[in-house]
Amino acid sequence: MYKESGYWDSRYERERELPAAGGHEWFGLYPDFAPLVRRQLRPGLRGLVLGCGTSSLSSYLYKEGVSPIISIDYSPICIKEMTERNAGIPEMSWMVMDARKLQFPDGSFDLVIEKGTLDSMMVDEKDPWNITPATVSLVDEVLNEVSRVLAPSGCFISITFSPPHFRTRHYAQPKYGWSVSCDTYGRDFHYFLYTMLKGGKLTHRDIERGQSLHKPRVIPDAMPTISEYEDEDFLREIQL
Ligand SMILES: C[S@@+](CC[C@H](N)C(=O)[O-])C[C@H]1O[C@@H](n2cnc3c(N)ncnc32)[C@H](O)[C@@H]1O
Repeated sequence: MYKESGYWDSRYERERELPAAGGHEWFGLYPDFAPLVRRQLRPGLRGLVLGCGTSSLSSYLYKEGVSPIISIDYSPICIKEMTERNAGIPEMSWMVMDARKLQFPDGSFDLVIEKGTLDSMMVDEKDPWNITPATVSLVDEVLNEVSRVLAPSGCFISITFSPPHFRTRHYAQPKYGWSVSCDTYGRDFHYFLYTMLKGGKLTHRDIERGQSLHKPRVIPDAMPTISEYEDEDFLREIQL
C-alpha cells in the first residue's frame, strides 16, 4: 500500500484529525543525522526535498540556510497541510509532483534530499537480493530525474533503512554521473545516509555493485553444512 498515492492521502487525512498532529518522521529527526548533512552545506544552496510528507526536514534545512527550498510530494493532502503550516515563508514552497517526473529545468538544484521516499517505492519486494525489473525501473526513473535536476557539483542525499549491499547498486550507475558514499546514524537501530556527489567518480567496487543490479543472484541448490567446514570446529565448541 505504501506504493499507492491513495494510501498516503488517507493516511495524511487521518493524521490531521489527531489531536497531537504535527507530522510523522521516518528514520528520525534532522538533529539525529545533521552532522552528516552539514558536511555538504554552504550558503545559498537551492534545495529540493522529494516525498516530503509532513516531515520537519525541509524546515530544518531552511533554518540551516538552504534557500530557496522546494518540497514535493504526490499526495495533495500533505502538500496542502505543509503549505498552510509554513505560510509566510516565501522561500519555502510546496508542490504536488511525482518524483518520477520532476517539472524543473536541468541543473536547478544544488541539494536534493529524500528520506524514506525510495523505500516506499520498494516495499513490494519480497527478496532484496533480486529486485524485480519493474521496481528497478521505478527507482531508476527517480534517480534519472534527480541526476538531471542536480547542478554540476550538486549533492543528492538519500536516507533509508536499506544497507549498502542492497541499496548502493541502485545508486552506483555511471549514467547518473556521481560518486556514492554511505554513513550510518542511530543508536539502537541504525539507518543509512547515502551521499551522491555530481561530477564525482564511482569506485571499481561500486561499479561492480551497480552491475550486479541487472544480474539475478544465484543461490546454490545445496548450501554447505557445518560438517563441511573442517577448520571451523570452534562452532561445535561453543558452550551455551
Ligand atoms: C515513508 S514516507 C516519508 C515521508 C517523509 N520524507 C519523512 O521523512 O517522514 C514516503 C513519502 O513519499 C511520498 N511519495 C512516494 N512516492 C512518491 C512519488 N512517486 N512522488 C512523490 N512523492 C512520493 C509519499 O506520499 C510519502 O509522503
